Amino acid sequence: MNEAARRRFIRKHTRLAAPGLVPEVRLQLATEMTPLWRATQKTLDDLDLPPPYWAFAWPGGQALARFMLDDAAVMRGRRVFAFAAGSGIDAIAAALAGAHSVVASDIDPFALSAIAINARANGVEIETTASDVLDGPPPDADIVIAADVFYEGPMSARTQRWLRRCAAAGRTVLTADPGRSYIPERGLEALSSYDVPTPEELEDAAEKRTTVYRVD
Ligand SMILES: C[S@@+](CC[C@H](N)C(=O)[O-])C[C@H]1O[C@@H](n2cnc3c(N)ncnc32)[C@H](O)[C@@H]1O
Repeated sequence: MNEAARRRFIRKHTRLAAPGLVPEVRLQLATEMTPLWRATQKTLDDLDLPPPYWAFAWPGGQALARFMLDDAAVMRGRRVFAFAAGSGIDAIAAALAGAHSVVASDIDPFALSAIAINARANGVEIETTASDVLDGPPPDADIVIAADVFYEGPMSARTQRWLRRCAAAGRTVLTADPGRSYIPERGLEALSSYDVPTPEELEDAAEKRTTVYRVD
């Protein structure tokens, strides 16, 4: 599927809306999870692509976006790398908070198309990359952000190692997590917590207590 077809698919199955905790940001979001999941699965079965993470503003993404927008001095003038960006919520919030430049990564091509659509809807510029950066060196950036990335075992382990390497190399590393199964047991400094509104269909709760951390 080419870029134009992906964008048509995204627009057809989502609508522009603001996540509950971050009304300043507008994203192409799924209004109902099940039909989108089914449509995506049907379309993507042959292509062996992952589920549509890009159609939701995950609790981690919302909390980190809120943190950056409320404490914009942290981001102002910085070069930001947004790992596993999904819809692009945090990449966009970093840009709105005054980052000098923002690069967003995701291994799902649909996420990169969604980020392009969403960046435009918010009037910000985001560069995107499809590279899997986890086995490589820290990015050329001042701040690395990675929200809601500890939901699956092997990926979480690789992500933890890479985020620690980024921190050891002098990057400021921020993450946010609503208590997923694979959150690191050490090396996180809690900065701020939020009650994030979430679709019950997705999280089995109308709200998730979510914490923003600095990775040591
Ligand atoms: C739960 S979503 C979180 C999205 C966004 N950060 C948020 O909080 O709304 C996880 C995202 O990680 C992406 N992902 C998984 N493995 C990755 C990797 N190795 N490199 C980059 N992105 C990855 C998925 O495609 C998905 O978009």
